[in-house]
Amino acid sequence: MSEAHIAKATKEFAVHPYIEFMTDTYDPYGKWLAEEGLPVVDGEYVYDVRTMELGDWARRGGRGAYLSFSDQRVADAYVCEIPPGASLAPQRQLFEEIILVASGRGGTSIWWDDAGPRRTFEWQRGSLFAVPLNAKHEHFNTSGSEPARFMSLTSQPVAFEMFRDPGFIFGTDHEFRDRFDPDDADFFSRPGNYLTEYYGGVLHTNFISDIRAIDLVPRERRGKGNRNMYIHLAGSTMFAHVSQFPVGTYKKAHRHGPGAHVCMIDSTGYTLMWQDGEEPTRYDWAEGSVVCPAAGQWHQHYNTGTEPCRFVALHASTAVQREEKGLEQIEFEDEDDKLRRMYEEECARNGVSVQM
Ligand SMILES: [Fe+2]
Repeated sequence: MSEAHIAKATKEFAVHPYIEFMTDTYDPYGKWLAEEGLPVVDGEYVYDVRTMELGDWARRGGRGAYLSFSDQRVADAYVCEIPPGASLAPQRQLFEEIILVASGRGGTSIWWDDAGPRRTFEWQRGSLFAVPLNAKHEHFNTSGSEPARFMSLTSQPVAFEMFRDPGFIFGTDHEFRDRFDPDDADFFSRPGNYLTEYYGGVLHTNFISDIRAIDLVPRERRGKGNRNMYIHLAGSTMFAHVSQFPVGTYKKAHRHGPGAHVCMIDSTGYTLMWQDGEEPTRYDWAEGSVVCPAAGQWHQHYNTGTEPCRFVALHASTAVQREEKGLEQIEFEDEDDKLRRMYEEECARNGVSVQM
């Protein structure tokens, strides 16, 4: 790293007194998390959402845990398990939500008016969908013997900072008809619209049954053999993208704004993350792992397994992603030699030949 990168920063306060005052006085999202009575996992990583420990979720039914990663407060995740044959309590909410199914099978009904039409679709491991803003929805497990688990990214922290009132956030009856039309029988079943001429590809859709089966397009500037698709769901202001890169390769290090939650679905490997001037920290992953880089934190994903690596990244919104002036990345020829050597050693250990 250059000298400029290792300039030492100091802090005026550990916690600024004004922030301490505001947190003691308000902290609406922190207070809400405490009231939920669920485990709250902080840090920036969980190894496997399919097996991590959950607590009983009195408000919704089922079991859950919050992932409150990287002190971002623009988007937080949670993991939820629905017991065999059970349903969660119906809910509506003035914040965005994108759901990735980790294991099991189930379904979701979505509607506005209790006396009006509802749309119901079934999901499985690898399904991806958004809850249309403020629509009433109910998730249920369709198996009588196996639990179902999903991971979800929401903009709940923003809603709590803005309104501070759960009664308003979960109890307002405005219908955002431009997000979801219950009279549209095919709303969750019609094929998506691929805009493949757009660099990196864009998929506009309302429901993806299997994220492993969608089309991807080349995105070579992120690394050799890299393939990609951006995904916009049900008019959500949040979005997702899928990235795939070949056996024996890794992606270029890059950084951007807060809120990206990288959910690993295929192969095995590790991610390095570091702030300017820091040594990288390593996070080993496999299917079910989630890694969440903080705002402005460099991160780099390495495939050391014997199949192409694929992940789904869930994002807060384009407004905070901070890529409008182009993605900031480190080209392979500028990277630290010791990071390449670590990768070569890991691949050798797994019997994988490096294709960089
Ligand atoms: Fe990223």
